[in-house]
Amino acid sequence: MQTMVVTQDILSQFKHIVGEAQVLADEETLTEYGHDETEKLLYIPEVVLKPGSTEEIAQIMKICHAHRIPVTPRGAGTGLSGGALPHLGGVVLSLEKLNKILSIDERNLQVITEPGVITEVLQDAVKEKGLFYPPDPSSKGSCLIGGNIAENSGGPRAVKYGVVKDYVLNLEVVLPTGEIMWTGANVLKNATGYNLTQLVVGSEGTLCIVTKIVLKLIPHPQHDLLMLVPFASIEKAGAAVSAIFRAGFVPSALELIEINALQIVSQMVDSSAVPVHEGIEGHLIIEVDGNNLDVLMQEMEAIAMLMTEFDAGDILFADDAQQKAELWKLRRRAAEAVKLEGYTIEEDTVVPRAELPALIKGVKAMGDQYGFKVVCYGHAGDGNLHIRINHPTIKNSHGNPEMTAILKELFVLVKGLGGTISAEHGIGLIQKPYMETVFSKTAIQLMRDIKKAFDPNNILNVGKIFDSKD
Ligand code: LAC
Ligand code: ZN
Repeated sequence: MQTMVVTQDILSQFKHIVGEAQVLADEETLTEYGHDETEKLLYIPEVVLKPGSTEEIAQIMKICHAHRIPVTPRGAGTGLSGGALPHLGGVVLSLEKLNKILSIDERNLQVITEPGVITEVLQDAVKEKGLFYPPDPSSKGSCLIGGNIAENSGGPRAVKYGVVKDYVLNLEVVLPTGEIMWTGANVLKNATGYNLTQLVVGSEGTLCIVTKIVLKLIPHPQHDLLMLVPFASIEKAGAAVSAIFRAGFVPSALELIEINALQIVSQMVDSSAVPVHEGIEGHLIIEVDGNNLDVLMQEMEAIAMLMTEFDAGDILFADDAQQKAELWKLRRRAAEAVKLEGYTIEEDTVVPRAELPALIKGVKAMGDQYGFKVVCYGHAGDGNLHIRINHPTIKNSHGNPEMTAILKELFVLVKGLGGTISAEHGIGLIQKPYMETVFSKTAIQLMRDIKKAFDPNNILNVGKIFDSKD
């Protein structure tokens, strides 16, 4: 790709658009915006821009389009596939200043928001009105809603309520050429032309920059109950997951966490919430929610009974809000905790849920064969298993042929089980080498053609999802 560096002249044009204070090129800022939560990767951009409006973004994009300057859009930098990494240098375009919830429409159960709002802040704001925006990635306390749109995030409650795409009705976007447009309409049903809204959701910042978001809301359920179920065998825990659905239950969360992950995170947050029992390989965290507490209690009892068929141990029923919060904290901070322990490589595999035991068994066998430690946790109800790898010498899969070959083998296994590479973290920079495991060349070419239609000069988050072929 022929790109131009950000010259002094272009820098002064940026300063004119966003103001001098929002054009940052000091070492500390460039380092901070040069990494996200992905592995241990760092790419220093030339400049970080923090625009405050759609119009400012449009002007920036016009300049970058004209001069073919690579632009990497960025939310909070909590991503796990390298989507926000400025691996080609150029401009990092931070959306953090577009941080207003613009309106909550209680008549139509919709919210219009800017992309720089923290997901949990948005959830709390609509909850005050009795409304629910369910998608809740583990990083909900720090990730931005715009990043969630880019990655089509999920989280624990996706198992009952669906993922981000199920809530996005309409988007205002800035195209790489600098043009501003809306993708759809603020309606619940829409059969009007190609669905550009849904094309943009999950496009990882490669097609356009999302500047306003219209989300569907639902009434907030009044109650939820939570239990923690220990299993002597992690594979049996996996098998119990599909039995729950076959028996007719739809939990609002059904999470798996292996014992070593739980121990590591308990230590990190200094929690003794989960009693340590000998011979336990993992736990399921099971939540049900709804408006009738008696019905929910009956459901919990019935699920608990069912779990005994899978050799479950003593079940812990979370009694109050504090205990529930504690359990959720342990689950949500697992990724961060195990990364600090050297499990730096994370996969986001997903298989049809009944195939989970086979996936767990397969990945453990690969760990034994290739000499790395594996810890698994994730959204078992969705068949979505986060696999964390702690290799004695290889800390990044990206750019490492040995680990890339191992992961290719993993994805051949995943594909063989009917699954795919990523459920909620995206492909970004680091999962590109495996795309041909799950897609034909024709399908990937079609994606490239779509990218070209949106971004003729190939400047926006280039080299993410697939390699650039300018
Ligand atoms: C989680 C993130 C890593 O589930 O997706 O914790
Ligand atoms: Zn997850």
